[in-house]
Amino acid sequence: MFTAHSTDISPLVLNPDTFREELVRAAHWAADYLQALPSSPVTTPMPDEHRRALSTPALSDDGKPASTFLDFVSSEIAPYSGGNGHPAFFAWITTPPAPTGIIAHLLGATLNASCGYGENALVELERGAVRALAELAGLPAGTGGVLTSGGSMANLLCLAAARTWFLRGRGAVDGEAYDEAHARLVCYQSAETHMSVSKSARTIGMPSSRVRAVPTTSDQRMDVVALRAAVDADVAAGLLPFCVVSSLGTTSTGAVDPIAEITAVCREFGMWHHGDGAYGGLGAAHPALAPHYEGVGQLDSLTIDPHKTLNTPIACGAALVTKPARLQEAFTVEASYLEGNDDWPWLSDYTVELTRPGDRALAVHAVLHHLGRQGVTALIDGYLRHTEHLRRLVDEEPELELAAAGPWSITCLRYRPAGYDGDLDDLTARIAAEVQRRGAAFLATVRVHGELALRVSICGHRTTKADVETLVAEILDVGRGYVSRISARRRVSLR
Ligand SMILES: Cc1ncc(COP(=O)(O)O)c(C=O)c1O
Repeated sequence: MFTAHSTDISPLVLNPDTFREELVRAAHWAADYLQALPSSPVTTPMPDEHRRALSTPALSDDGKPASTFLDFVSSEIAPYSGGNGHPAFFAWITTPPAPTGIIAHLLGATLNASCGYGENALVELERGAVRALAELAGLPAGTGGVLTSGGSMANLLCLAAARTWFLRGRGAVDGEAYDEAHARLVCYQSAETHMSVSKSARTIGMPSSRVRAVPTTSDQRMDVVALRAAVDADVAAGLLPFCVVSSLGTTSTGAVDPIAEITAVCREFGMWHHGDGAYGGLGAAHPALAPHYEGVGQLDSLTIDPHKTLNTPIACGAALVTKPARLQEAFTVEASYLEGNDDWPWLSDYTVELTRPGDRALAVHAVLHHLGRQGVTALIDGYLRHTEHLRRLVDEEPELELAAAGPWSITCLRYRPAGYDGDLDDLTARIAAEVQRRGAAFLATVRVHGELALRVSICGHRTTKADVETLVAEILDVGRGYVSRISARRRVSLR
């Protein structure tokens, strides 16, 4: 018999005073950490030996006092946690955590309710959070769905729902009829679509040969003429077009596909229209973006990532479906040990997960109810204002050029000094790496029309005008330094 902790008290139990003290210490630490972040480097490179130590820990026999955990996080984890809480973090679309969301996660873990089965207040809160997101996005009343771990999972759920809906409509629910129809399914995305859509298609059993990458027009939006031509060709070849995924805010440049025109093609050919709005799904909530969202209410489904635009802590996405029964048709599997209520179906019937966290619902609720409708608009407005400032600085600086700029808050640019005849992709990659290394600001790169560009995503509530100016100063300083070193080397070699 195991004896090390042989008392009636579980080894997991903490003395109530210790628990309270550690919670208070953690709360103070969280507030201090976030307050101090702006004056720290955005990222700190992680030494290889530290990487190895973290990934191959030696578990002690006796365990450690709970009080050592916070010290461990503070010294071993926080310095290498990626930098996205920092106001000068401009890479990918990874944002700082909303303070109300942080509190929600603590409370959510405390309640520890599952939003998958059983009935509890968090399940209803999740339904409410989904409705609030749908309303902000401009989807019709009656839209439902679930919160997810992020955009990838939401895209997967919506594609699975689209596939089930389409096959059921043809009477191909199982057996040979299903196999025969499934083998002819085709879906469409644009060449700019996020890779999670291809991954979702692969996960629901679509070979890449039947996932079409429709070309884009010069503004990186799906070319609807090319879409129609591709669908026509597939129908003529005896294939079954079942779904188009449009992008509402592309990851590379922030472009928004022409929603209404794509819906028209979908309706003509009996296809499902899914919008990947992981980044830009809430565009209808801002007056400057809303014109790009005409027809959004006609989508069959929409992905939104509250952990992007709303800055809820990672990980929180949402799969919104205008006819939520279509998610149920895709995911309900009966089991005698899980008897739900027909009037209030369990949320596990709408997704692949059974046990599901409640902290997502709490965080979306906390952030949305803290912001209110006007606050959501003001939050997006902040991203757009800083983006405008950035683009103005690029415009005014002759050594910088704008490579792409969608309606959303992503800007792609290059450092291209007059007369520079070196490899521009190489220069761009070096600038990005060096800016990242120096730690005053952090950005990423992306290919635009085949050429590498610096990619600046502004989607954090902590970013200020000064952070944008720091980034531009860093790009110029690093770029100028590199080009002058190259020129000096050339002069030496010519002597
Ligand atoms: C347009 C788009 N779709 C989907 C995703 C995937 O979302 P997640 O990382 O939350 O899974 C992203 C991530 O950046 C995205 O930008």
